[in-house]
Amino acid sequence: MRLVQKNDELTHIVAAWRAEGKIIGLVPTMGWFHQGHLSLMEMAGSKADKVVVSLFINPIQFGQGEDLSTYPYDLGRDMRLAEKTGVDLLFAPAVADIYPAGFQTCVSLKKLTQGLCGASRSGHFDGVATVVAKLFNLVQPHLAIFGEKDYQQLAVIRQMVKDLNFNLEIFGHPIVRESDGLAMSSRNSYLNKEERQHALCLYTSLQYAKEQVKKAGSKLPVATLTEEVRRIINATPTCAVDYVEIVDKETLLPSEYIEKNSLMALAVKINNRVRLIDNALLDPQEGALPDKK
Ligand code: PAJ
Repeated sequence: MRLVQKNDELTHIVAAWRAEGKIIGLVPTMGWFHQGHLSLMEMAGSKADKVVVSLFINPIQFGQGEDLSTYPYDLGRDMRLAEKTGVDLLFAPAVADIYPAGFQTCVSLKKLTQGLCGASRSGHFDGVATVVAKLFNLVQPHLAIFGEKDYQQLAVIRQMVKDLNFNLEIFGHPIVRESDGLAMSSRNSYLNKEERQHALCLYTSLQYAKEQVKKAGSKLPVATLTEEVRRIINATPTCAVDYVEIVDKETLLPSEYIEKNSLMALAVKINNRVRLIDNALLDPQEGALPDKK
């Protein structure tokens, strides 16, 4: 595996791969790899000849008072994990290489970013869309993989690719979970033992919602179910709801009724310090629990 830290070196290598007819797959990340990231890399490897992973803690997607300064980082650790997973190139640029002095462009989506995490993290998706657009231009991949854990992010990237005619295919990867159901996240490393236990309420409340929908079907009012889930989370020690919403899985607009396209999305703050998200489809036809992987 090659470690590349400069844009010029990266563009040189990927241009040579393209000239040889290689299919290039990209997995953008902010590092501190867990099995969720590694599964995306494996998926890229199954679809592409060359897998590029970017590791860049993107300052412009963090708001004031968020965890930019404490975000976990260990390049050596991540290099070993990526190499074991069969990654061909790890691109880990410095902030000044991505945002040189004078940088002033912003990619901003008007509608998809209004609700959910966009509402509670102002400017977050402008930062995500801008850096991902830059990564697409630098790496020129044929395909890129994003996780469904960050469901709104995946929707934003798909829309940006469509709107700006990026010539690549986007694939979503299902949420990868710990054996007890907690969605894997680099931010889980902030949790102490007790908080880790309490954090399970994201998964158990999604599970509860799916069970209620299975029992009552679409007759269940949206407000009743979101209220019950809020109650479960807020009754868990150290946990406070940031949002609980039921939205259409395509438009991300609030669902009026629970139907097969309804998605429940959650954000929870633990000890007012660690913010975790999770989501699940509430398909009344299926009623299956979210995958544990
Ligand atoms: P990061 O949080 O490092 O996540 C990188 C990718 O891994 C994202 O596509 C995310 O959805 C996916 N991922 C994280 N946890 C997952 C899990 N448990 N199951 C499945 N996929 C998971 O998301 C970002 O970085 C950044 O916003 C980025 C897109 C790199 C732009 O800076």
